Amino acid sequence: MLILGIETSCDETAASVVKDGREILSNIILSSIDLHKKFGGIIPEIAHRFHLKFIRQVVEKALDEANVSLKRIDAIAVTYGPGLMGALLVGVSYAKSASFALDKPLIGVNHLQAHIYAPLMTQDVNFPFIGLVVSGGHTLLVLVKDFDSYRLIGETRDDAAGEAFDKVAKMLNLGYPGGPVIDRLAKGRGGRGVDFPRSYLGRDSFDFSFSGLKTSVLYCIKRKLKQGKLSRQDKVNIASGFQESVVDVLVDKSIAACEKNRVGALVVGGGVSRNSRLKERLLEKAGRCGVRVCFPAGELCLDNAAMISGLAYRKYKKNLISDLRLVPKSDLRI
Ligand code: KG4
Ligand code: ZN
Repeated sequence: MLILGIETSCDETAASVVKDGREILSNIILSSIDLHKKFGGIIPEIAHRFHLKFIRQVVEKALDEANVSLKRIDAIAVTYGPGLMGALLVGVSYAKSASFALDKPLIGVNHLQAHIYAPLMTQDVNFPFIGLVVSGGHTLLVLVKDFDSYRLIGETRDDAAGEAFDKVAKMLNLGYPGGPVIDRLAKGRGGRGVDFPRSYLGRDSFDFSFSGLKTSVLYCIKRKLKQGKLSRQDKVNIASGFQESVVDVLVDKSIAACEKNRVGALVVGGGVSRNSRLKERLLEKAGRCGVRVCFPAGELCLDNAAMISGLAYRKYKKNLISDLRLVPKSDLRI
């Protein structure tokens, strides 16, 4: 079964053709990130217009690369939330038109569920497992019992992990997006750096909070600036200390969630799953606790449409099909 997937929830215009939920025939991602860089964050209006301008070309390229015509596509899948309303509208409208014109089934996909599906495209994992979504917009822990059964067990009360990386990088004048730069700066330091607080929100909580940490970083920078200028070494120490604080909490809570729910696997998705220190520390602690950790392969960490087509196949098999009444939901929950 060939599914054409469309993803336009944030700043990536993406389309992909996937066979039977796993075999990626094409995965086209066109990002508007360069247009947002000078603002230090995503500007929704710029993202919306970018999707509108490029969606057709991106879909055509995905079909071209997969070497299939629209006629051979069996269903159209699309992210309908969560995300930027104007951005989602472009993808959903396009997918609905294609579904109507071609008379093919339409499958609306939850972006957060798709991030958890990404590692399952290349690895077999038995249900139930714990899913950790760490992206620019979300940080949450979820008990996954099936492709259509998710129980939220914790989420951020303020900033998402990726958002904290982006904001701290902005404070340090390191550019946007911040995650990859901070990751690079902190490489090889083994977590050594400024000792920032860890926010656990109580021993039994699986919720997260990163805004206090962000404020601590801000005060640290102000203190340094008062003493003179912020040196390159200061930036490295702050970046590494900040990253370690985020990683500590993510690792401890994720493994604790596996233990509490007596599951043997943790599936990680979203942009922050690319973080090398998070990978290293999770694998190390999970190994000690007998938990298997699965990360998405390469490009499947970031926003992409292959994970949308992939999960849509699982939904189709369960007869979870949408219709032309599908509407985008910017605050869709998992
Ligand atoms: O999943 P994603 O592409 O978009 C959302 O759905 O939000 O995630 C983007 C986020 C950004 O905040 C970016 O800074 C972060 O993922 N990110 C990283 C790394 N690579 C990307 N954060 C930490 N370390 C990285 N290596
Ligand atoms: Zn995402």
